[in-house]
Order: sequence, then structure tokens, then C-alpha cells
Amino acid sequence: MIFATTQRSLGFVILAVVVIGFIIWLVANLRASRNEVGAEIELAANRRPGTPDEELEGKRLNAALFSALGLLALIAVGLPLYWLGEPGRQEGAVETFDEIFVERGLELYEQGAQCVNCHGGAGVGGLANYVINDQSGSFVAQVNWIAPALNNVLYRYDEEQVRYVLNYGRPGSPMAAWGTEGGGPLTTQQIDEIIAYLWSVQLPIPDMRKTVDDFVKGIDEGLYERMKAVQESNKDLAPNGDVEPVNANRLSRADEIKLGEILFNNQELAAGSYSCARCHVPGANYGKAWEPFEKLQYGAFGPNLIGVEDQATEQQHFDLIWNGMNQGKIYFSRKQGNPQMPGFGVNRNTGQSDKGVPDLGPEGMLTADQVWAIVTYERNLSNASTVKSPIAGTAESPSFVNATRGSAKP
Ligand code: HEC
Ligand code: HEC
Repeated sequence: MIFATTQRSLGFVILAVVVIGFIIWLVANLRASRNEVGAEIELAANRRPGTPDEELEGKRLNAALFSALGLLALIAVGLPLYWLGEPGRQEGAVETFDEIFVERGLELYEQGAQCVNCHGGAGVGGLANYVINDQSGSFVAQVNWIAPALNNVLYRYDEEQVRYVLNYGRPGSPMAAWGTEGGGPLTTQQIDEIIAYLWSVQLPIPDMRKTVDDFVKGIDEGLYERMKAVQESNKDLAPNGDVEPVNANRLSRADEIKLGEILFNNQELAAGSYSCARCHVPGANYGKAWEPFEKLQYGAFGPNLIGVEDQATEQQHFDLIWNGMNQGKIYFSRKQGNPQMPGFGVNRNTGQSDKGVPDLGPEGMLTADQVWAIVTYERNLSNASTVKSPIAGTAESPSFVNATRGSAKP
């Protein structure tokens, strides 16, 4: 880009110099021609009269001079013009290249790899028909497992994390390993093409907001109104404003628990892609939250969160859900970061356009008041009398604490 701008401004400078120079030359020329001086009036005896001007300045000379001038003008103007166009041509070439990637990604998404069968057209989310076996490989049940919407996946994960899931899949779930690295059928370039396609279908932020808002409105209109009022009061929030998200205005505690419960558990909205239960509650992916099948070998993908209030302060808790986990960082004093825990408040891909990563802006899938609601809800899970929902602390839930599905290696 920097190269393109300097080249373009250089082009403009040269063009300006040529045009101004031409005007100066024209003016000087016209003025010089007016006062012709020093013409010979009488011929010396030893000289013969020269060929008269009328004869010399005939059509041929004029034609030759004009064509030379025309060619000169063509070079003088055409060269800078070419320079002006060159960066655009280069950008155009990159664009065409991107378009080809997106086109091929779409083809893979819909035909080659058939992601569309589970994740829906344009990544709106869907269902995967899946057979659950026990540890010895015998049939337990056939289920419909939610396949999260992907038209928002590059808000909760950075590109590398999406690439990781595509390469290695999610063991113990219908999501298979697709990349050669994980033993799948797709080449590195094909994975890149699918990612380019996913970029092309990411929802604009207002559409994501509306998706979540409408869902809350459909469940509790009063709560929706109060939530919108708090959001209105939080307009100056970072990263766009001056207020840190953690200091955002919040709903009342009772409302936070209500809203947190809706957002945490909802599996219906965009195939659970905005929810937490799909990873943190065993069986939630296939409509059997906390009542999994007998002999089921899998727990949830993420850890049981009941009692999480003893492991982290409110602020640490908020920061984690807002930002997600990063590899190699320590969370809650003892946990190694697992980047498959998504970030819900910020877009982790933002600010990397120098590396060619598209920038959809710094905002994430949920707003600060919504993340606070989830935090408050989670910190009250141990208190069954406060929270009435499938995830509330029950006698059975502790048995799943160690039953982590698959290997959640980052
Ligand atoms: C057989 C059905 C199926 C197919 C085909 C499939 N997926 Fe998935 N995918 C799933 C399910 C189910 C999950 C959620 C797994 C879980 O519960 O952790 C998932 C998870 C993902 C995730 C992680 C999203 C998140 O937020 O957890 C990504 C990214 C993804 N799939 C992309 C793709 C792409 C791209 C393709 C095509 C190459 C594809 N999937 C093919 C079923 C499928
Ligand atoms: C795609 C799956 C996935 C989703 C969706 C998800 N998480 Fe997680 N979460 C994880 C994983 C994996 C971990 C880390 C497990 C580990 O290595 O400790 C984790 C860890 C956590 C932790 C830290 C727990 C601890 O004891 O260290 C909290 C808190 C948490 N998640 C909250 C949430 C909330 C709230 C949501 C919804 C807004 C959510 N998660 C959505 C997968 C997920």
C-alpha cells in the first residue's frame, strides 16, 4: 500500500511538472514570436537570396514537426498516466486472485468437502446426523448434533484457530479432520481457499447484534428493552470510545442472571454459535443437556463451570470471556490457555491487515453488558435456588467434571 501511494504521488508530480512546463514553454514561445528583432533588410552582394519561408515551411515540415510533438506529448503524458494506473492494476490483480480463492472455497464448501450439509448454506449453521458409540465401539444412540454457524466464526476465533479446527477437526464430534496435517483429504491451499470463503460470508456487526437482540426479544421483551437501554448508555465503550469494557454499565443482578441464562444455554440461535453450553454442558449439542446417555464416553469439550467463581475474580472472569484464551498464557492462576475457548467481546483478527488478514473492526459477537450477564450467571451456577436451568448445579453434574470429550489440544 505504501509502495502504491508513493508510486501514485510520484506519477502525479511528474504529470504536474510536465503540464506546468508545457504551459511555461507555450507562453514563452508566444511572447518571443511577437517581437521579432534583427532581421536582415538588405542582402550582402556576395549572398544569394535564401529559400523563402513560404517554400521552406511547407506542409511536409509542418506534418513532420507536428507528428514529433504529438509523439513527445504522448510519452510525456502517457508515462505518468501509466504510473498512475499501475498500483490500481496491481491491486486489481490481487483482488482477482482473492476472488478466485473465494470461488474455489465456495466450491469446496458446497461440493468438494460438503461443509454445507452440516453448517448450512453461507454458514448459517445446521445439524449433523451422528452416531455416538461407547468406548468399546458399540452403538449408543443416533443424534442430531448442532453444527455451529460459521458466518460469525472469524469474530470468535482468529484465522489460525479456524485453520487448526479445519486441519484437526474436533475429536469425538461430527467435525472431522479435513487438512492433510490432521490426516484429512484437503491440501494446505484448499484449506486457505475455504478460509477465504468463510471471510466472504462473515456477517456485518449490526446483523450479528440484531440476531442476538431478536432472540432475546422473542423470549422476554421487557428484558430486551432494558438490555437495549444499557447498551445505549455504553456507546462510548472501548475499543471505539474511552471507557474500558470491564467498566461498562450493567443490568441489574436479577436481569443479568436472566439474560446470562438465555445467552449461555441457547442452542437454537444460529445453531448454538453464540452460546456456551454447546461446549460446556455434556449432551447440550444434541438436545440432552445434563442427561446424557448411559455408557456415554464423552463429556463436554470445555470444562464444567460450576464453581468457577472460586477460581477467578469477577474481572478475570470477564476478561477471559471477552478476549478468549491464548496459547501459552496462564488463566485463573493454574490453567494453560487453550485457544479453542473463543473470545466473545473482541474480534481477534482485527489490526492485522499488514499480514493480509481482513479487518471487520474490533468488535466481537457480544456486547459488554451481555458478557457481564453471562459472568454473573456462571458465578451463580452452584446456587441451584438462584438459577433454574438445565445447567444449574445438580447431583449428577459432578460426574462429568473429568469426562472431557476428545483431546482438546490447542
Ligand atoms: C458431518 C458434519 C460436518 C461437516 C461435513 C463439517 N462440519 Fe464443521 N463442525 C461440525 C460440528 C458438529 C461442529 C461442532 C463440533 C463441536 O461440537 O465441538 C463443527 C465445528 C466446526 C468449526 C468450529 C466452530 C466453532 O465455533 O466451534 C469450524 C470452523 C468448522 N466446523 C468448519 C467446517 C468446514 C469449513 C467444513 C468443510 C470443510 C466442515 N466444518 C465440515 C460438523 C461438520
Ligand atoms: C467451542 C467451544 C467453547 C465455547 C463455545 C465456549 N467455551 Fe469456554 N472453554 C472452552 C475450552 C476448550 C476451555 C479450556 C479448557 C481448558 O483447557 O482448561 C474453556 C474454558 C472456559 C473457562 C475457564 C474455565 C476454567 O476453569 O479454567 C470459562 C470461564 C469459560 N470457558 C467460559 C465460557 C463462556 C462463558 C462461554 C460462552 C460465552 C464459553 N466458555 C464458550 C471451550 C468453549
